[in-house]
Amino acid sequence: MEVTPSILTVDFCELGRTLDEAAAAGINWFHMDVMDGNWVVNKTITFGPALIRSARERLGPEAFIDCHLMVNNAEESWDQYVDAGVDMVIAHIEAVEDFPRLIENLHSAGVQAGCVLNPDTPVEAVMPLLPELDLVLVMSVVPGKGGQSFMPEVEGKVRAFRAAIDSQEEAGGKSPILMIDGGIKDHNAATVSEWGIDIAVVGSGLINDSGTIAENLESIHLALAK
Ligand code: DX5
Ligand code: ZN
Repeated sequence: MEVTPSILTVDFCELGRTLDEAAAAGINWFHMDVMDGNWVVNKTITFGPALIRSARERLGPEAFIDCHLMVNNAEESWDQYVDAGVDMVIAHIEAVEDFPRLIENLHSAGVQAGCVLNPDTPVEAVMPLLPELDLVLVMSVVPGKGGQSFMPEVEGKVRAFRAAIDSQEEAGGKSPILMIDGGIKDHNAATVSEWGIDIAVVGSGLINDSGTIAENLESIHLALAK
């Protein structure tokens, strides 16, 4: 299982250094948490395309950057993130009217399309999109902030997506990446990996907990190797 840092709980005055530190620790996938001050329950604002453009300039063309759009207008604003240099747009099924159309737009713009669902959204809301998606993101916290407690009750949803993706691939279809986001640390990383997760988003567990990013990443890798 791969680990990608959530860019949300960073000290934004130190963002460049944090990105450099993560890259030096061998991280190549970066998860940019975009909030518009409206869509998430606690009405937080984080950042928009301008900061992502700076991150792309800092990280260079080789890095993989996704943006997790926790916004009301993903169907109108997705192209700003493409212009800013993301490789993938991950939008909420709860916030998008016409998801198939959004996937089509993203693919024609040459970027990958991800769909994310909240802890209380059933898998049935996303399953019909599986043949076209490049990634499914299962939230294991309620979107809005970092440092929240992991919600183990999403296990059934993760396992259902794992089984559906595996049978889709066996039938010759796409194999979307299965990602989890929220409350992932070294003590539960092996659990979600066993559930079938390909990539875990880790915010506070990499960036804010004691230790450097490299040390925190190492403790997750050690937990996975057990
Ligand atoms: C929450 C974000 C998550 C969060 C993860 O709305 O989507 O990416 O920042 O942070 P931790 O790992 O601290 O839960
Ligand atoms: Zn996120």
